[in-house]
Amino acid sequence: MSEHDEHDKQMEQLRREEGEEVEYSLRPQALAEFIGQERVKEQLRIHIEAAKQRKEALEHILFVGPPGLGKTTLAKIIANEMGTNLKQGIGPTMERLDLATILTNLDEGDVLFVDEIHRMKGYVQESLYPAMEDYTLDLAIGQGASADIVQVPLARFTLIGATTREGLLAGPFHDRFGIRLHLDYYTPEEIQIAIRRNGEGQKIEIEEEAERELARRSRGTMRIANKLLFNVRDYAVVKGNGVITHEIAEEALEFFRIDEFGLDERDRFYLRTLIEKFGGRAGLKALSVAVSEDERTLEDVYEPYLIKIGFLTLTRQGRLATDHAYEHLGYELPDYHQTLF
Ligand code: ADE
Repeated sequence: MSEHDEHDKQMEQLRREEGEEVEYSLRPQALAEFIGQERVKEQLRIHIEAAKQRKEALEHILFVGPPGLGKTTLAKIIANEMGTNLKQGIGPTMERLDLATILTNLDEGDVLFVDEIHRMKGYVQESLYPAMEDYTLDLAIGQGASADIVQVPLARFTLIGATTREGLLAGPFHDRFGIRLHLDYYTPEEIQIAIRRNGEGQKIEIEEEAERELARRSRGTMRIANKLLFNVRDYAVVKGNGVITHEIAEEALEFFRIDEFGLDERDRFYLRTLIEKFGGRAGLKALSVAVSEDERTLEDVYEPYLIKIGFLTLTRQGRLATDHAYEHLGYELPDYHQTLF
């Protein structure tokens, strides 16, 4: 084995050991490699090109949409395309001082990405206003009444915020994002392309039918597609010869309890609880207690896809399981239910 091969082998081993790294290496580095979200890419191309021509920082961007659709990936791509650095802040835990440290260390054109930006504390959001608008930061020196406010100039940077809950952003904060982009679920065809590409990148042998099957059951979400691919690959290695045939894929999906619609045990538990404990209709709070998940997780993670596939509707009286949900889970429809739709 040559030195080169040895090096590659070691690198591969390392990547395997560090799951995060594997996922990272799957991430596209340029807009041209990013699958789907065509409208978003078109808009980004325009804004990136214009900002480059003007030699200015890109306007602040707000990404809106369900989790797992590639908001972080897109932020990284934007920094790559602008030829600048990406810095990340974590919304809920960030304090004013953390933000000040990050902001004052940004270089011209750098991208600051904040995920779950709706969970950033109100006073931290507010300290971003002058930074977003005039690229200055108001810093308090000293404490209480004797504190002095000094204005620190910042490099012209781009804030990219990602949120699953646009409605929770304060109006003035929302308005300071010059570009708002909405991400939507991927089609099975788009997901299949990503599965194929990632399979090739990871040297996973997978039949076309199996790709299609995984894509169909990925809930329109790239993150889920990747997870399924790796889980099913493990199954194929242990139960087969490592190749993900259609048959192995179906077997594995059954083993992992992923159903025809891509729902897992937790999704089905949610629906069953709604139907069995509440007769098909419940308020968010009651349901959250009954399934032991916090309300936000239900709203952000579970419900959007159930709504999209028509298993759930939100009414003023609460969450309502639809006929399709009853049918899918094998329940008889209650008499009154028919009249509701
Ligand atoms: N990884 C996450 N989102 C992706 C996308 N849309 N295309 C390719 N790889 C991705």
